[in-house]
Amino acid sequence: MLLEKYRKVHFPETLFPEFVVNREKCTQCGRCVEACPTMGLEMGTDGFPYLRGFKGIERACLACRNCEVVCPSGAARLDGVYRVKEGRYKTILRGKNSPPNPFNDPEPPSFESVTKKLTSVERVILKRRSIRLYKDKPVPREMIHRILEAGRFAPSAGNCTPWKFTVVTNRETIQELERDSMKVLRRMRDVYLGAKGWNKTAATLLSYMSVNKGDQRPMTAIEKADHCQDVIYWNAPVVIFLMMDTRGISNPDLDSGMCGQNMVLAAHAMGLGTCYIGLTIAALDYLPAWNKRLGIEPPWKAVTSLCVGYPKGKIDKPVARETLEVNWIE
Ligand SMILES: Cc1cc2nc3c(=O)[nH]c(=O)nc-3n(C[C@H](O)[C@H](O)[C@H](O)COP(=O)(O)O)c2cc1C
Repeated sequence: MLLEKYRKVHFPETLFPEFVVNREKCTQCGRCVEACPTMGLEMGTDGFPYLRGFKGIERACLACRNCEVVCPSGAARLDGVYRVKEGRYKTILRGKNSPPNPFNDPEPPSFESVTKKLTSVERVILKRRSIRLYKDKPVPREMIHRILEAGRFAPSAGNCTPWKFTVVTNRETIQELERDSMKVLRRMRDVYLGAKGWNKTAATLLSYMSVNKGDQRPMTAIEKADHCQDVIYWNAPVVIFLMMDTRGISNPDLDSGMCGQNMVLAAHAMGLGTCYIGLTIAALDYLPAWNKRLGIEPPWKAVTSLCVGYPKGKIDKPVARETLEVNWIE
């Protein structure tokens, strides 16, 4: 019984979405493949993108729908959801996605038909997508400052404001961090994907001890980062590291998360794009010299990093997401 449970830690039976391409509309531009956060999409020999897997992972897809939103011709569509059916990472199989439905209409309306009734804040929230295609254009310092100010005014328990930032705009530094992080991430991926013999025991332990790192989804992102250049930070011109003071009252992780999202929403409202990047943060635990360089010394802890830049093309758009579970107590 226990062995059976362990066996299913790896590549658990998962429901993946289907990727559908309208071949008449598809211009074979490859933006969907480029923007996919994982090793999920590839151009086939026929020149059209298709959903792939690798090394035991059936399909490397998170169902984030970035492929849909970056497609300039509306040819790409993702049908279905990502749901783990068994084992350690089992998720609830509601299996129903729906586009934004802010007014709780019986059927979700088109976004255009409700957009005028929404506040500008709601519009930014519902349309924001993680941006992984950036223009090679610097972000003016005043805009970075405005983003940091949005973070500074986030709520925090006891008004502790338990955060600080390191802003990196030097491309070579970003690339150096990517290379050093890759050395650590590659090892994590190899243990997880190559899980045989002792490796399998190590991988099982890893996934139990650090459940949020040893999952197949980050592994698919590491695989992409290992195969393509500069895709940890997606060639973005700015990277902001968000650090948390562990002495913050109550739950400084939560405070810092809100601070990060304030910055993200402010950036998108200004026409910039952002993407949270957790891959390097996982690696930083094993890179003491980088912690020093980035100012992450006790009592400070890295929470996340954000890449920021001008999006290449129009990307912010609403997508379908898992429907909400809400319990009303009236
Ligand atoms: C804490 C955190 C860490 C993330 N790390 C990464 C990352 O390392 N690389 C990446 O491409 N996307 C990363 N993402 C972005 C998620 O993949 C993305 O938010 C999710 O798929 C939903 O898509 P959306 O942001 O476009 O709505 C991260 C998001 C969060 C909140």
